[in-house]
Amino acid sequence: MNQSLGIMTLNPQVTNSYFLGIAKQSLSYPIDLYLFSPKGISPLNETVDGFYFNKESQSWENEAFEIPEYIYDRTYYQKDIQSQQAKAVVQWLKNQRHIRFLGYGLPNKWHLYEKLKKTPISPFIPETYLLTDGNHLLNLLTEHKDIIIKPVDGAHGFAIYHLVESRGGIVVRTTKKEGIMEQSFQRKEIFIKWVNRILQQHTFICQKRILNLTKEEAPFDLRILLNKNAHGEWREFQRAIRVGEPQAILTNISMGAAYKSYSDWKTLHDSSWDYIEEELTDIMQEMPLILEEHFSALFEIGVDIMIAEDQSLWILDMNSKPGHKVVDALGQEKLPSLYKAPLDYCEFLASQSLTSLRRGDF
Ligand SMILES: Nc1ncnc2c1ncn2[C@@H]1O[C@H](COP(=O)(O)OP(=O)(O)O)[C@@H](O)[C@H]1O
Ligand SMILES: [Mg+2]
Repeated sequence: MNQSLGIMTLNPQVTNSYFLGIAKQSLSYPIDLYLFSPKGISPLNETVDGFYFNKESQSWENEAFEIPEYIYDRTYYQKDIQSQQAKAVVQWLKNQRHIRFLGYGLPNKWHLYEKLKKTPISPFIPETYLLTDGNHLLNLLTEHKDIIIKPVDGAHGFAIYHLVESRGGIVVRTTKKEGIMEQSFQRKEIFIKWVNRILQQHTFICQKRILNLTKEEAPFDLRILLNKNAHGEWREFQRAIRVGEPQAILTNISMGAAYKSYSDWKTLHDSSWDYIEEELTDIMQEMPLILEEHFSALFEIGVDIMIAEDQSLWILDMNSKPGHKVVDALGQEKLPSLYKAPLDYCEFLASQSLTSLRRGDF
């Protein structure tokens, strides 16, 4: 019997090239592929309104179906009510014993930090503070001078502020669609008021700003995409340098940064690459296992790593729902293998549960 795998996303789009890529590869797998939104689920009769990939016409077709046995969760939530409702449905799904997620996701940045600072990769995790109020931030700024604050549940560079203390006062910069917005505060009271206002919107963490700039004064970092192969083993799938715009705060692609080939970068920029690569290999071997041990099973991870000016490495961010455009940009020849990965891993999970069934483990 075929496995059923559902790609889940808040607003399914039949034109999504990543999902279509997976769908085209599914032709050679004993897998029925679906695309749906948690908003399309009716928990009462456990059915979904969504799309089914018709292997004959090779297109997504509107259909109502039972909740697939395997789920590839690609939902990004916002703050609105629809998102909150969808989140509750997904939580309910995760608790269904007959449904398996390829990956169960990671907690927010603060919970991640609290756990990871007690693990062997702690030397690579920047010291992080949970902001309590305006005075707290003022003290952190006095101590560290140049800091970044970001929402615990942020993504894509959203609501990230860069703060510096200078003679004239405090300068706050953030990235908007139109570019960088800057505001300076001469008076502490007004600054504290501003902080308390943004703290009402999000819970923030604070870190020292780690810097490495190009000659054009653009920030850059390293993005590594890890995923599991057909045997359920972790592998590095793609490595890239992300370069932000000159003077920018962020290296998120959604905020105007660009991918550059890692090997080209290495030849153009003098650095202790041997040392850096040795450390990277260690981190990449340990990190996914540590994450799965402390949180839950994962299928893929996108890691943001900053190489500071003194060559020290810092893990800035870990994403359990990473983008895949990096492969389009730098690893075209690997695209078929990228699209096969969720199908292979679904098959692997199915074979696992069969062997444990045979052993009577359930
Ligand atoms: N401590 C920091 N020092 C320097 N840059 C940072 C720091 N924290 C975040 N950034 C910049 O902001 C970007 C987004 O931060 P990140 O923690 O990855 O959150 P998000 O989930 O929004 O991607 C990073 O890729 C990096 O360019
Ligand atoms: Mg990030």
